[in-house]
Amino acid sequence: MGRVSTQVGIVGGGPAGLMLSHLLHLHGIHSIVLEARSRAYCEERVRAGVLEHTSVVMLRDAGVGARLDREGMRHDGIDLGLNGVRHRISFEELTGEHVTVYGQQEVVKDLIERRVQDGGELRFECGEVSLLDLATDTPRIVIHKDGEVDEICCDFIAGCDGFHGVARHAIPGGVLTAYERNYPFAWLGILAASAPTRDELLYMHHERGFALYSMRSPKITRLYLQCRPDEEISEWSDDRIWSELNTRLGCADGWLPTRGRILQKGVTGMRSFVVEPMQFGRLFLAGDAAHIVPPTGAKGMNLALADVYYLAQAFCLFYEGKDDVGLRSYSDTCLKRVWKAQRFSWWMTSLLHRFDGESAFDYKRQIAELEYVMTSRAAAASLAENYVGLPL
Ligand code: FAD
Ligand code: DHB
Repeated sequence: MGRVSTQVGIVGGGPAGLMLSHLLHLHGIHSIVLEARSRAYCEERVRAGVLEHTSVVMLRDAGVGARLDREGMRHDGIDLGLNGVRHRISFEELTGEHVTVYGQQEVVKDLIERRVQDGGELRFECGEVSLLDLATDTPRIVIHKDGEVDEICCDFIAGCDGFHGVARHAIPGGVLTAYERNYPFAWLGILAASAPTRDELLYMHHERGFALYSMRSPKITRLYLQCRPDEEISEWSDDRIWSELNTRLGCADGWLPTRGRILQKGVTGMRSFVVEPMQFGRLFLAGDAAHIVPPTGAKGMNLALADVYYLAQAFCLFYEGKDDVGLRSYSDTCLKRVWKAQRFSWWMTSLLHRFDGESAFDYKRQIAELEYVMTSRAAAASLAENYVGLPL
């Protein structure tokens, strides 16, 4: 058995784990990142695309924002639509801020590149990981790979391994309280080789279901359709997808999304989920390992980055002065922000999707709410403030 030591053992090499490892390195704190998948897989996995202003500043301040500054697309607002009629919500005017469109896999690529340059220890395809002795001052990570067993002795462990990871499940029963809400729909998402023909995102409420027009670069569009949670992607030919996108996104002024070769398609389920507290002993959960939001409003990756920003600060405080106040308040600090993002993501989702079997009253109320957001400055300002991101 090989045995090594580190200050912070990090399980998961997504945005949360990589950013935490990088922030710790900037403060001279050693970490080892254990990632189940290959580097290529992590760098190609298409997920979120919208960065809040605070996330951009965080990445820039940490010295990993150069390509983001060059290639990220600044968006000063979004369009909300109702059956083909658009209304712009100007973030710039309502909040003085903006968001940046830059794919999650680009953030991941930038962070991996930097960790490798800095000599960071990233173990891709790490094998099977178990977390032990979490309630002691000497937690351990045991790794089984190719018949070999390795052990990493840590001061702390960060569980950044997403919703399906092992970290949350390593916490004994009865410690965590889970809060959950499932939605009776999912998103069918595509990536298409077609230059965006809008400058900003379009969130469309349509009688056949929600649709979203987004983008990744000046050559690539990203589009989503509300679908059933058990939707068979094989039943969606490229023609059927484009025809449905045209129906739902087509606007009264004649605008239609431009077709292009579909590079990727997939179905993503939707749920709201939070565990409290985000800590047990010397294990700290961050990002999707602790909470999931439905994608409407694009909060997932931003929340993951905010968690590790607080966690890195808490570790720095600990190692500088042996003061564990930051670590003790980590969960409460994060959860305040998490619940606000949960509320917003639930609200955006409820506002824009069709709910099967809903009463006529609920449908009318939903349309009235959307029209209110489209016409009231106060309501639009509330959306804008949450969309660009609440202060850290
Ligand atoms: P992850 O990115 O999930 O990273 C966790 C990492 O841990 C992964 O690399 C995983 O391989 C690794 N891992 C898992 N188990 C183990 C293990 N046992 N050992 C070692 N490593 C392990 N958010 C948005 O805002 N907008 C979107 O459009 C959007 N689309 C999404 C589409 C999909 C299919 C999914 C799953 C999520 C989407 N999200 C979206 C959410 C957003 O991508 C997440 O919130 C974000 O990835 C969270 O980052 P994370 O680092 O916490 O977790
Ligand atoms: C994207 C995803 C979202 O959930 C969203 O609200 C906006 C954009 C995207 O993938 O581009």
